[in-house]
Amino acid sequence: MADLETGRETKEFYVDLPAKSEAFFLKGSNALGWGMQDRLARIFQPASGRTLMLAIDHGYFQGPTSGLERVDVNIVPLVPYADALMLTRGILRSSIPASCGKAVVLRASGGPSILKELSNEQIAVDVEDAIRLNASAMAVQVYIGGEFETQSVHNLTRLVDAGNRYGIPVLGVTAVGRNLTRDAKYLRLACRIAAELGAHFVKTYFVPEGFETVTASCPVPVVMAGGKKIPEADALKLAHDAVSQGALGVDMGRNIFQSEAPSAMIEAVRRVVHEMMKPEHAFDFYQTLKHERRGALVHSEAG
Ligand code: R5P
Repeated sequence: MADLETGRETKEFYVDLPAKSEAFFLKGSNALGWGMQDRLARIFQPASGRTLMLAIDHGYFQGPTSGLERVDVNIVPLVPYADALMLTRGILRSSIPASCGKAVVLRASGGPSILKELSNEQIAVDVEDAIRLNASAMAVQVYIGGEFETQSVHNLTRLVDAGNRYGIPVLGVTAVGRNLTRDAKYLRLACRIAAELGAHFVKTYFVPEGFETVTASCPVPVVMAGGKKIPEADALKLAHDAVSQGALGVDMGRNIFQSEAPSAMIEAVRRVVHEMMKPEHAFDFYQTLKHERRGALVHSEAG
């Protein structure tokens, strides 16, 4: 009946044309199921193969961090420039419009505050709630060498089992305890353990010496964690160094939302991550946007 309606009399089966069977674009992710790959492709942009994640989950252990006092006021305007938001379910439900259309990387571990031993975390989200929130991934800290190392690794493996059941990837976050040396040797150990035990992608810090060995020896994508606030030019160089040495993106928080001009900064980081813009050009771009926006604000206030 449908064929009659279109008026076509012949069918075309392209019998000489082999069906397409393309590899998934993301490192180490080819054997994953469709739902898992779909979620990863919301986080990592297929065009560049990289991601700009905006990390705003700091409140889960340190309360209202500077720049995150009012997520509705300060963060929501930045959301359009990010590929994914890393945050807790509390902030997601209370402060982020569901219509924003961004991938959600849901903070799924927690427990201790900054007043206690941070490695003593538990799983803090049921996978069913992650599904209700349409999460594209769940994130869990892994404290290799920390006091509660085994417990945190067990949190990771339980979340990976839950994620595999429902097609939700897990981000293993390598948290470096106070008394540990943050160098390439340590990060190779931590990232590799997280990946071996099932993390679908890993977040870790940049180190100036040997970071490329950290990304090379991790069989799944590595995303760089931003770290404490540094001058904008340095943060843009950090992002560039990381993606040049194999990171498939950044998960940056304080260096964006604590910047003098957060919207200009996130746009500049975006250029670095997706276009590999040189850091000095990205800094010029940041300054131009910062002055334009400041000028526009003064103009509108005067008018
Ligand atoms: C990591 O465990 C935190 O929860 C943040 O997601 C992470 O530190 C990234 O944010 P920042 O760039 O501020 O370090």
